[in-house]
Amino acid sequence: MPLIIDTDPGIDDMLALLLLLATPKATAELKLISLTYGNCALEATLVNALSLFYVVGKENEYRATIGLPEYTDQRPIIALGSRHPLNGVEAVNATDVHGNDGLGGSHQTHPEYTCPKEWVEMFSPGAKEPEETFPFRIGRQESHLEILDILRSEPENTVTILAVGPLTNVAKAAAADPQTFSRVKEILSMGGAVRITGNITPAAEFNVFADPLAASIVYALTSLRPQEMLPTGTSESYLQLPKPLDLTIFPLDITTKHVMTSKEIEQVLDSRIARHPGSWLLKWVKIWTKLSLEKMEVVYGWPDAPLQMHDPLTAAYSIDPANGWTLEELDIRVESAGSWCLGKTLTDDRSRGSIDNNPHDYHRWHMSGSGNKVKMVTGSPYPE
Ligand code: BDR
Ligand code: CA
Repeated sequence: MPLIIDTDPGIDDMLALLLLLATPKATAELKLISLTYGNCALEATLVNALSLFYVVGKENEYRATIGLPEYTDQRPIIALGSRHPLNGVEAVNATDVHGNDGLGGSHQTHPEYTCPKEWVEMFSPGAKEPEETFPFRIGRQESHLEILDILRSEPENTVTILAVGPLTNVAKAAAADPQTFSRVKEILSMGGAVRITGNITPAAEFNVFADPLAASIVYALTSLRPQEMLPTGTSESYLQLPKPLDLTIFPLDITTKHVMTSKEIEQVLDSRIARHPGSWLLKWVKIWTKLSLEKMEVVYGWPDAPLQMHDPLTAAYSIDPANGWTLEELDIRVESAGSWCLGKTLTDDRSRGSIDNNPHDYHRWHMSGSGNKVKMVTGSPYPE
């Protein structure tokens, strides 16, 4: 089934991308890498995404030697997306964890793993297309428009959007052409802190906090009556969406239970791909994951803090959703106008008892189709 990843690479985003590029099925299905601001500035996410392709190699011959699947004819498009949240305010970032370059500073310490600057220049308006041997194509329009093009060209109800950054590009695509957007099969979104504390604030998880308006809109579009759930003043065009969205979230509740320690990173380095003399890949992974862990120690005083696998866990579900996952359907709303609770993912867990027992008539309200219907992943096939 066709796959779009919307991402802000970012260390764990890079691991998620790597997982897709190392899995034959996902490599074949990946249609678009839609970039967004988030962990670092948009320009830095581009350098990182391109550097991953640079390190995993342009040539299938090289890729085979390090045990990675061949690129197919359907090379994914890489496209630049939003630079700031929907409401136009300055973007937040997570450079304290991911480094200014989004990769723990590894471009500075190990420039040999950075893509050539000509690769980045190919994204300037009017630049010539890369050769056909390149493993990717260039999206010439803003990435939310590329998302819509893919939804138009693929059969209805087949495309998955795997969103592992702020939801700005996704919300923009829905607003620009709701009819086409509703062709999407499902949205898998890493984000939220439902029954645990947030990471960027006590109330909020980073991706939701980075664009609470976009998240609040995307969550509201799962409702049968989005007009009651959308934040006041949102564009009317969202109401043209012909049917509710199918949204599955991977909040901190589940992602923080899946971690990698420096010891485990060392163990991965003992694997077949890593031992291959031609392989830069895992050496590089080691460098940037370790740099990030060291940063956490310096910035937060957390010695040997494990690396949380937020985005790779979400990507793993997109590859094999059938086995070993548990999900719960909940009414989850996003606070898009608060101060202390901005970006909070709030569940409405109130009892839906009978009308007679309920002075506020919650039952009727629920039955009218108000309330969001968000699926939350609560268990994975992987050890915690
Ligand atoms: C999310 O925020 C980013 O820093 C990570 O890449 C992940 O997508 C976790 O809160
Ligand atoms: Ca991310």
